[in-house]
Amino acid sequence: MDKLTALCKAMITYDKGDPRRIHHFLKVHAFAAQIGREEGLDEKTLFLLEAAAYVHDIGIHEGERRFGRNDGQIQQELGPDEARPMLEELGFEKEDVDRICWLVAHHHSYGSIDGPDAQILAEADMLVNQYEDGAPLKQNEALYHRLYKTESGKRMFRELYFDTYEGIKK
Ligand SMILES: [Fe+2]
Repeated sequence: MDKLTALCKAMITYDKGDPRRIHHFLKVHAFAAQIGREEGLDEKTLFLLEAAAYVHDIGIHEGERRFGRNDGQIQQELGPDEARPMLEELGFEKEDVDRICWLVAHHHSYGSIDGPDAQILAEADMLVNQYEDGAPLKQNEALYHRLYKTESGKRMFRELYFDTYEGIKK
């Protein structure tokens, strides 16, 4: 089994009993991989991005268990110590583990975005969060201008949240 497939499997097991979290990271991974491919990322950067997308919210359960909170700050603080042993166990290279853990520790810190993996992870996460949280149009417009930089991420955000579908809606 390749490393990304094994990591996805391990994350589903890690989050067992919590389908909301499992659906979340699977969707963030799918958007991140699609944006990364459309943007033409090199193989290594795409690999790091995909791995980070699977584990980016791994700090949530520890935050809820230990501190009764699951906000972005606690995810960033607790996530790396949860992700590191999982990645090491699955045979990820040390420098890859370090970068993936850095991405986990900064995925809500837009001021520290330092590369396309960090940028696309943040874009993919918010493509999913805005839907899951039912964010209002005004908030989406502000976020679009503040965060989105890649052409494909911007296009997807517009297509999800600014275009209208006139068919039957549930
Ligand atoms: Fe997330």
